[in-house]
Amino acid sequence: MPSTGQGAPAHDWWRTAAIYEVYVRSFADGNGDGAGDLAGVRARLPYLAELGIDAIWFAPWYPSPMADGGYDVADYRAIEPLFGSLAEAEKLITEAHELGIKIIIDIVPNHGSDRQQWFTEALAARAGSAERARYHFRPGRGAGASVPPNNWISEFGGTAWSRASSTDGAGDPAAGEPAEWYLHLFSPGQPDFNWAHPDVHAEFADVLRFWFDRGIDGFRVDSAALLAKDPALADLDPGAAGGEHPYVDRDGVHDIYREWRRIADSYPGERVLIGEVWLPDAERLTRYLRPDELHSAFNFDFLCCAWDAGRLREVIDATLDSHARVGAAPTWVLSNHDVVRHVTRYGRADTAFSMSDRRIGEPSDLQLGTRRARAAALLTFSLPGAVYLYQGDELGLWEVEDLPDELLQDPIWERSGHTDRGRDGCRVPVPWSGSEPPFGFGPEQSTSWLPQPAQWKDLTAEAQSGDEGSMLELYRAALRLRHAEPAFGSAEMRWLDSPPGVLSYGRGDDITVVINVSPHPVELPRNDGVLISSAPVLGGLLAPDCAAWLRTR
Ligand code: NOJ
Repeated sequence: MPSTGQGAPAHDWWRTAAIYEVYVRSFADGNGDGAGDLAGVRARLPYLAELGIDAIWFAPWYPSPMADGGYDVADYRAIEPLFGSLAEAEKLITEAHELGIKIIIDIVPNHGSDRQQWFTEALAARAGSAERARYHFRPGRGAGASVPPNNWISEFGGTAWSRASSTDGAGDPAAGEPAEWYLHLFSPGQPDFNWAHPDVHAEFADVLRFWFDRGIDGFRVDSAALLAKDPALADLDPGAAGGEHPYVDRDGVHDIYREWRRIADSYPGERVLIGEVWLPDAERLTRYLRPDELHSAFNFDFLCCAWDAGRLREVIDATLDSHARVGAAPTWVLSNHDVVRHVTRYGRADTAFSMSDRRIGEPSDLQLGTRRARAAALLTFSLPGAVYLYQGDELGLWEVEDLPDELLQDPIWERSGHTDRGRDGCRVPVPWSGSEPPFGFGPEQSTSWLPQPAQWKDLTAEAQSGDEGSMLELYRAALRLRHAEPAFGSAEMRWLDSPPGVLSYGRGDDITVVINVSPHPVELPRNDGVLISSAPVLGGLLAPDCAAWLRTR
């Protein structure tokens, strides 16, 4: 039977935590400028405590020109002025801790911002200079060096190289050399750091300490598998498998996390490192989770999985097996700030998801998607391990697919040549209250940086609070039970016999979970009571696309 690493000390809070992602710009606006901020988060901490989460993960809150929604960090030791100040972040950390909520922040080590001091110094310096050595600057190829140094493609589309323009700096203009190129695996505003350089190691070690000293409980490590590059920066062989890729999952990356783990472990309390590791197979992922590396990583196989009992069971088993081998806790995640919200995904004819084809605008039955999202919450919250929620999941928000073109801000829209509408649709500000946009996102008379659909009037936190049939109350009740029932704290689950299209498993001695992914109602097993269900259980039958937790002694 798969387990999450028997013998793991019970006090490892992150092994079973419910962690809530806050994308600050879209969470709550305290000062009425249309963008979310730390004042907004502080005001909503009681809401998050009532929801029953254990920790907040903040998407980057650092100063940023927002070339990639904050993942282009200009200063790793400060707070984006639109969001507030360092003093305010410190208050927030204290207030959250007083409510029993831990704080995890994003760290972005693969790349910085083109406005970061190191990079402006590098642009102003000459080819071959110490300043440029912290990044990947290279001469171009061909006549006038006008062809990028290699064939790598940016994750957002187009070449992964931009030319250091001669006004900003050049190869060596005085010597008449052509301008160099710099590598950016994402947008041109996000130059990649050279992790073979000791300054980069020292800088990030210091940044980790800076925030641990301020009391944060952990880091979410952005693009964690990309940091180490082939020193030759050789052309990508289009036929190469994931492991041979010149910048994905190269061996050197593990040394970085061993170094970071030593830093995390040198602090009191349990400080954690959570990796955003996109890799084609669970085996490779768990190499990052060996006992002296990252504590935990997101489970994107689960997120991408179709709403299909067979596929879900395969992904769950593969996750449990691979994590058990390194003693790591599995994680379960349905949505985040990069993917189409799962209410929308689950309402489509094809419910699987792939980052390479978001299929924005494909028809989706939102009622069906919502029903499945409710069942998926009960699935996710009842599996052994930690769970991640994305702000608005608890309100049943769907992807906003009809944002006007001129409002789209995600660099993916431009860089894909307007073929991929990008991720703005899952970043639309949260509706809190009232009957018209911006639904209490900010103070009266304010607006929101992206418009919300008028139909969200039924999905505000205010409208759902106290309504037993709402998504919000389902989340609150399920998270409460997850905490209260000792069975959910254990590392084990066992599959039980079930009809085709139905997932059924036992947790501890006294809980049975049934998820009906089939198109037919199914009879629930004999039980001593329904603890919670995603839709009313009538005559002992669980409707299609519904889930229930049962007391079974
Ligand atoms: C992953 C982040 O989640 C995403 O939002 C970002 O664009 C890339 N990494 C680059 O930092």
